[in-house]
Amino acid sequence: MHNSVDALFTGLWQDFCQHAPSAEKIHALLASKNEAIVNDHIALRTFNLSPIGLDTLAAHFLHLGYQAKGEYHFKTKKLYARHFEHPDPLQPKVFISELLVEQVSPQLQTLIKGKLAKLDSALTQQDSFLYSGRAWDLSTEEYQLASQESEYAAWLLAHGFRANHFTVSVNHLTAFEQLSEVNDELKQAGFALNKAGGEIKGGADVMLAQSSTLADVVDVHFADKTMAIPGCFYEFAQRFRNKKGQLYTGFVEASADKIFQSTDQT
Ligand code: NI
Repeated sequence: MHNSVDALFTGLWQDFCQHAPSAEKIHALLASKNEAIVNDHIALRTFNLSPIGLDTLAAHFLHLGYQAKGEYHFKTKKLYARHFEHPDPLQPKVFISELLVEQVSPQLQTLIKGKLAKLDSALTQQDSFLYSGRAWDLSTEEYQLASQESEYAAWLLAHGFRANHFTVSVNHLTAFEQLSEVNDELKQAGFALNKAGGEIKGGADVMLAQSSTLADVVDVHFADKTMAIPGCFYEFAQRFRNKKGQLYTGFVEASADKIFQSTDQT
């Protein structure tokens, strides 16, 4: 079973690195300090429409032994999310969000539904679908139209299905005690962090502290031209123990809300 889990995450990671060159550099930077990098979680984005809703994406992980855990609501961003955990705590958690399409404008709904109409639902059954990118054409005009209303929708329409971010588990780093030390190292090395809601989202009081790079700007081939837009990013998570001494494994809505903004266009 582990081999399949590992194979899936290897596929996701290889695709992710093409859209987050900084992540690969940071990974190499930490590895050069003899750090063993444990992936705390990945995040996937989707629309709540058949055949690509949250449940469809989640099925790939449930099949590999993952279990559904927390539920999260992001009212302003019109998102619903769940996280999934593997019985082996060293396997990455999976955070899947979906845009509640019925809540966006009729114009954006029409755009999204038109793109998905061309999707072959048989493809969604393959694990590799999770990092298959997009199977539709998109113009820069359509991208801009979506982004005026929802950065999330625009990102998903432009990039399709792939890991939005991977996450370094700060708890498993040996040379860094605190997330702030990791952030200092990253800034010193020239990486830009997402400052929405402060560099560090959360903390010991909510048992989870998170930071992230700003998404790398990558070239995307649109129907009319190639344009550089925010791609994927790397996150850093430090988890704290509850009163019973157990490490917190969930997510924090207020922090995740700001992490989503790592892919906003500035
Ligand atoms: Ni995350």
